[in-house]
Order: sequence, then C-alpha cells, then structure tokens
Amino acid sequence: MSPPPHPLVVAHRGSSIARPEHTRAAYELALAEGAEALECDVRLTADGELVLLHDRTLERTGLGDGVVSTMTLAELRAVDWGAWRYAVPAPDGAHPTIDGPRVDGDGDLLTLRELVELARGASYPVGLAVETKHPTRAGGRVERAVADVLRDAGMTGPARPGAPWARVMSFSHLALLRLRTLLPDLPTVLLVGLGQSGPFRTGALLGGASTLGLDVAALRAHPDTVAAQHEAGHEVWVWTVDDDADIARCLNLGVDAIISNNPARCLSARLDV
Ligand code: G3P
Ligand code: CA
Repeated sequence: MSPPPHPLVVAHRGSSIARPEHTRAAYELALAEGAEALECDVRLTADGELVLLHDRTLERTGLGDGVVSTMTLAELRAVDWGAWRYAVPAPDGAHPTIDGPRVDGDGDLLTLRELVELARGASYPVGLAVETKHPTRAGGRVERAVADVLRDAGMTGPARPGAPWARVMSFSHLALLRLRTLLPDLPTVLLVGLGQSGPFRTGALLGGASTLGLDVAALRAHPDTVAAQHEAGHEVWVWTVDDDADIARCLNLGVDAIISNNPARCLSARLDV
C-alpha cells in the first residue's frame, strides 16, 4: 500500500468555499474533490445530540436568534442551513455569495454520527478532524459524547492503512486531557492562534496532544515552529489555508496537514510540487 499523501488536505467545514459550511453538500463535494479528511465543529443540542455547527447561536448566518444548546435536533433540522450563502450579500460579510442554483443537501444539518457514515461510504479511507467548542461550559459532556460516537465507529486509535480514522482537536488543552482519559490511544490536535503561539516555537505542546494545530497567521509570523515541533516528534497541521501564497508556504515548510475551505485548490497545488 502506498504511503499517505503529504501534506494531508483537510476540508474545513467541508468544501465550504463552494457550499454552505457543515452541510451535507459541503462534505459530499469535499469527498468528490478527494480531500483526505473532513474537519467539523461539534455542539450538543438540548436533547443531547452532537451536531456539526461552528457557532453558539444562529445569529452570524442570519438564520434566526436561536441558541443551539437550547434547541432540539428536530428544531435545528427544520432550519435551512444553506440559505445565508445564497443571500446577496451573505449576512456574515466574510463569505462570498454562492452564485448559481441550490444543490441537494446544501441546507442539511448533519450529526457527527451522520458524518461518520458519510466518511465510511467514501470510495477511499477518509479521516475526521473533530473540533470541540467551549468544552468547559458543558462540563465534559461534549467530550463524552464525541468519545461515544468514535468508540461506536471503531475510530479510537491512530490511522490504519485503508481504514477511516479520526482525530479530536480543541483550543482547550483541558478538553484534550479529558479526551485522553476516555480514549487514551486517540491522537489529538491542540489548536493555537497567533496570540498564543509563542511558547510553541520551542517544540512544546500541551494536553498530551500529538499534533500542533497552528493558525496560518502564526505560521507566517513564526515559520520556525514547524521544524521545532517536528524535532520534538509532533505533527503540525495549519488552518485555515485558502490562498495560493499560504498554500505554497505550507508546502515549502513541510507541514503535515493543510486545513482549508478550498480543498480542491490545495490538492491541485500539492500535485504541482
Ligand atoms: O481547524 C481549526 C479551525 O477550524 C479553528 O477555528 O473557528 O474555524 O473553528 P474555527
Ligand atoms: Ca473548527
């Protein structure tokens, strides 16, 4: 079996440049494009389901004034999660309006279990990069729920050739420590923004993580972090990498994964190297 491609291309919230983030359509497109892994954020609903959503509320996307943790899965499924990307301009101001007709699944919310099923149905082994949000508020419930899903899916350890795999990511090293007590063999990713990135230039890491998840702005400011982390035996994954200069920077520095809203662009740049 040939070695895994390097760097891995991870679709951030799916192929979210072209489809509304976290929807079934965004993940289906990422798989069609050949992304090696799918990134998602998870939140607990009022009835204890893990759904794929970034924000605490529906405000940014102009889809109402609901708070995700107070809504049931059925209530959340009733929302059209794609409508905001077809509005002119998109309500959050940061995303381009999608030009063209709606496609199947571009308004569909997914649970983490549904994403696992989607990955299992792919024609090649796909990874999941599952990010927990605001872990301290839910007192460990999110980590327990994530561990339950990954245990049921048999994704509790390092990637094996030919099989789907998972890593959990968090900005909170406490969340990663909690995960470690639940799934000791699961590799984890500590996410670090520009402001917090200084101490990690030495190769240090926290939370028992195997991987540093570095903001691309921190990579630009401190490119030496990659060599130091590699020296310490850690991988470096970089987010969120969409433009050509940053993709080239990641390829030149030898990072281990590129997390991008535009996986197709990263895959084609990797081919050109
Ligand atoms: O992949 C890491 C990245 O997703 C962290 O930031 O806010 O997009 O979840 P955010
Ligand atoms: Ca995320």
